[in-house]
Amino acid sequence: ITDPLVLFMPSGKRGRFPVGTPVLDAARQLGVYVESVCGGRATCGRCQIEVQEGNFAKHKIVSSLDHISPKGPKEERYERVRGLPEARRLSCSATIQGDLVIDVPQDTVINAQVVRKAATDRVIERNSAVQMCYVEVEQPDMHKPTGDLERLKAVLQNDWGWKDLRVAPHLIPEVQKILRKENWAVTAAIHKDMEFSRATVIALYPGLKNEAYGIACDIGSTTIAMHLVSLLSGRVVASSGTSNPQIRFGEDLMSRVSYVMMNPDGREAMTKAVREAVNTLIGKVCEEGGVDRHDIFDCVFVANPIMHHLFLGIDPTELGQAPFALAVSGAVQGWTNDIGIDVNRGARFYTLPCIAGHVGADAAGATLSEGPYRQDSMMLLVDVGTNAEIVLGNKNRVVAASSPTGPAFEGAEISSGQRAAPGAIERVRIDPETLEPRYRVIGTDKWSDEEGFEEASWTTGVTGICGSAIIEVVAEMYLSGIISEDGVVDGSLMAKSPRIIQNGRTFSYLLREGRQGEPRITVTQNDIRAIQLAKAALYAGVKLLMEKQGVETVDTIRFAGAFGSFIDPKYAMVLGLIPDCDLSEVKAVGNAAGTGALMALLNRDHRREIEKQVASIEKIETALEPHFQQLFIDAMALPNKVDPFPKLAE
Ligand code: FES
Repeated sequence: ITDPLVLFMPSGKRGRFPVGTPVLDAARQLGVYVESVCGGRATCGRCQIEVQEGNFAKHKIVSSLDHISPKGPKEERYERVRGLPEARRLSCSATIQGDLVIDVPQDTVINAQVVRKAATDRVIERNSAVQMCYVEVEQPDMHKPTGDLERLKAVLQNDWGWKDLRVAPHLIPEVQKILRKENWAVTAAIHKDMEFSRATVIALYPGLKNEAYGIACDIGSTTIAMHLVSLLSGRVVASSGTSNPQIRFGEDLMSRVSYVMMNPDGREAMTKAVREAVNTLIGKVCEEGGVDRHDIFDCVFVANPIMHHLFLGIDPTELGQAPFALAVSGAVQGWTNDIGIDVNRGARFYTLPCIAGHVGADAAGATLSEGPYRQDSMMLLVDVGTNAEIVLGNKNRVVAASSPTGPAFEGAEISSGQRAAPGAIERVRIDPETLEPRYRVIGTDKWSDEEGFEEASWTTGVTGICGSAIIEVVAEMYLSGIISEDGVVDGSLMAKSPRIIQNGRTFSYLLREGRQGEPRITVTQNDIRAIQLAKAALYAGVKLLMEKQGVETVDTIRFAGAFGSFIDPKYAMVLGLIPDCDLSEVKAVGNAAGTGALMALLNRDHRREIEKQVASIEKIETALEPHFQQLFIDAMALPNKVDPFPKLAE
């Protein structure tokens, strides 16, 4: 007789196991992630599963509740004391009695909120670098004079298989006290990242400790974003963001590098500022999630190269000049205590590798999240900030570059530009006949020509144009003939519309006159130039990578970052920011860098995956490519001097 067949859902992993095998053991052998803190003592309740009943023809399995052992005394005790949902069983106690289809419930898989963020809809299987292990340590005996610590290590090896364990030095003075507090029962937090690295006890608690958290953090030049995640359930407990306080040292990255070069303690000041902001943000997500910050054991960071260096306390001066040498390009690991991050005293940190001098760990995070290297189709991944980070490739080859777009897309350097905030114009349409505009303002839900707009916009006022609307207004001006292919405002239209106004030798478009106390909002010739320069830089970078790949078109485009979430892909293409592509294949993926950090936090295999990919990504330095200039000049025209956009016409 053959052994029963066991199928785990949703992973679909299956195998045959002898009758009597605990379900948890079967899961382990197949590499299906089921949590366990108490080591199968039926006390932690982390290992819950459900049995599906029925005839699963496709898998040729008849699964029934009779095919699993009835609840034993330990499981019954757990149910009595802690409660067990109706259909649930503890997989450490329940044993296999016949063919089974087992459901690993959603709350033990990553929550849907995170999965949706990755356009690839990947479920992140958990295999975090930190594991909580409950043990009952043998009590001391006069005849066996081993130390308490040695007996702790012995039982961790015996019950959990940890060999050659290290114990974090700060714990050693505490061990005896902790062991005696709950009658020799303790939970050890054990960190192990690489296959060959030694596992380390990083924290120790009396009794059963059923909570462990991690943070995934994206340190951007303007914003720092963070997820607080339960390492045991994979659930995102809270997410939040704050502005990067380094802005006071310089708006853009290069001015921050100059600050370091000009001020003797500039680097220290900036490192301190960003670490303080990260600590404050940890406080904020912990408060939101009702979590004690000392229950955070692992922290994963992504950042652009300059932020990465400053955060780690590295002088970024070399990144400010050719050949843009990174001090360290590989993944960095260490103790959070050494970088001034206030979480558990024994917590570890990990930063994703940087791709190149201008393409950072954030781009590596976005690459991990969107996974161009996993696909047949040619994927373009762009993260637009003051520097656009561009990755292009498929499973055969991936190339990356950065392009100096400047801050125009973020609304800086634009006469009426502002950050996306209540009062900012976010959508614009221009009637090609009358040249009259309609617009929508953040904080109101009406278009400007709808009844009630004036009242609705009264509280916020109408204060400026945000990044997404700048793209739209310039594109609409082009579509309605107000500007030419070269981006020049046609002054002869003054005769047709009072919205065209003259400023010296150039012309502007009046978007809104403004009520009393409000600014007059115009789009000037300079504004259009700034957008042209930014979009030409982005496009030229993309085009250079397409040439390296030897392709004329791309199959999919992913916009990462806040900018991408707000712009309308159609307008981005009208202006020629991005190459021609089926519009349905252009998607905004939100903070993909943060999602990549989350993946690396929840599963250490993803760390190895991105480390390997980054090592093989080909880095192109746009500044050193003689051809870049020509591509840039061609891309100044709307949408482009040489490249056609056939998909736009469709
Ligand atoms: Fe802890 Fe099953 S492993 S209850």
